[in-house]
Amino acid sequence: MDEQELIRAATEARERAYAPYSGFRVGAAAMASDGSIFTGCNVENSVYGLTICAERAAVFAAVAAGKREISALAVVTDTDPPAAPCGACRQVLTEFGSGATVIAANPAGEIRTWKLKELLPDRPFSGKF
Ligand code: THU
Repeated sequence: MDEQELIRAATEARERAYAPYSGFRVGAAAMASDGSIFTGCNVENSVYGLTICAERAAVFAAVAAGKREISALAVVTDTDPPAAPCGACRQVLTEFGSGATVIAANPAGEIRTWKLKELLPDRPFSGKF
């Protein structure tokens, strides 16, 4: 997996963030098990609760393209340290990439990485009985 390539894709997607309410721009890129990359950015709404995070947008783009196995997800924010995905996005990523590597980066070049299982340690509700 090319970590830098994934961070570059997330950085590019961040340029397209629609965040007029918070001013907090986020870009994400999900790598499917075949190496293909799908990007997302946060898209806010005047009804604040309808906002979608960049990470979930990237995961949903992958699934919509028929890729249900995500091996890595990069998220780029302009924060120090780089911000980890929110709890809702961790749960959604678990559905399609329980073994995924999560990478957080910022434009200054700082990088943090985890396994998704470290960010969401106990197996969450799977919906499968
Ligand atoms: N946001 C993300 O896109 N990803 C995260 O992991 C945290 C928050 C977005 C949602 C909203 O548009 C803005 O950042 C402020 O919460």
